[in-house]
Amino acid sequence: MNALETPTTALVAQEAVASIALASRRVVLADRVVPGTVVVENGLIVAIEEDRILPEALDCGDDLLVPGLVELHTDHIEPHYSPRPKVFWEPFSAVFAYDAQIAGAGITTVFDSLRAGTDGDRHSLGAGLFRLGDAIEKAKGTGLLRADHHTHLRCEICSVDVIEQAQDYLARFDVRLMSLMDHTPGQRQFRNEEKLRDYYRGKSPGKSDADLDAFFEHRKDLHRRFAAGYRRTLVDLAHERAIALASHDDTLEVHVAESLADGVTVAEFPTTVEAAAASHAAGLAVLMGAPNVVRGGSHSGNVSAIELAEAGVLDILSSDYVPVSLIEGAFAIADVAAVGGLAGAIRTVTKNPAEATGLGDRGEIVVGKRADLVRIAQVEGHPVVREVFRLGRRVS
Ligand SMILES: [Fe+2]
Repeated sequence: MNALETPTTALVAQEAVASIALASRRVVLADRVVPGTVVVENGLIVAIEEDRILPEALDCGDDLLVPGLVELHTDHIEPHYSPRPKVFWEPFSAVFAYDAQIAGAGITTVFDSLRAGTDGDRHSLGAGLFRLGDAIEKAKGTGLLRADHHTHLRCEICSVDVIEQAQDYLARFDVRLMSLMDHTPGQRQFRNEEKLRDYYRGKSPGKSDADLDAFFEHRKDLHRRFAAGYRRTLVDLAHERAIALASHDDTLEVHVAESLADGVTVAEFPTTVEAAAASHAAGLAVLMGAPNVVRGGSHSGNVSAIELAEAGVLDILSSDYVPVSLIEGAFAIADVAAVGGLAGAIRTVTKNPAEATGLGDRGEIVVGKRADLVRIAQVEGHPVVREVFRLGRRVS
């Protein structure tokens, strides 16, 4: 028996829950901010005593009480698993280190985003996809993870092995969200090929123009051969299993029409105002990166998330590659008129992502929902996560 097979890792029958009361002068409900006490029994919210600070409650004072954040697209597990190129950390340990950072950022429900499909880029997980899948399952089985983990399988539709990897992964693991990506040069996120060339030239070691010509032509060839057919197969795999689907980097109205025809419900990272507006108008939940908000623009030169918030077409924020950006991004859009104040801003990181993925039991401070709650101080203009509760139990 090795160390990972000791009785302490036995599967837990159900999630640990707790009973507690939390009071705050600023409890963030779905549509307003009120003073009051949130009463929790056995992991669920059973009462909200507005305008009352119950004497038995843990008094958070002027700190805000918000629902636990719901994160749909974070690839932050990857730098824990592969902290340096060609260096791989023991995945079980990496999952716990990652989980602690996620919970510490106020995220109580996380979709661990894993890539299926080798695309020749060094970021491809390859066989690491299954090593991480196994490690996440084993970690969940211990009952010791702080956040509630789900899987978002990111499928690169123009890669030779994406179908095989996706099928294998779906056969072995539970997946709740799948996204359809196409990072071919000249398409979507990389429609400006020159910017992509600059990116590769700046890498170490940089590629020559001849290298890039050959690499880009190879990627375009894969697109011509696989994009349409593989997309169709992946959409069918998702629908057969009732898995929510996300589009990725929609740029043109024709992309949005394709998303709608494929039964997509989340539009991840649309790259233009036109695609975002068309998606939102059609009822898709438009998701943008919180780092885009915090940094004041897209790192790849596409549309700014703030611009979409001002246009009233931003529904969900995602921390993407920096977990703490989720709460910071929400606070940063709270002053945008079309967002609906702090309550509306917090909805983009709680209720909206929960609803978009069928998690109707969380994402809002209201009687009957899970008591996933986060205490936040505001310090020097920044939100600081002080305490995190999942199902009423303190996890960070
Ligand atoms: Fe992308």
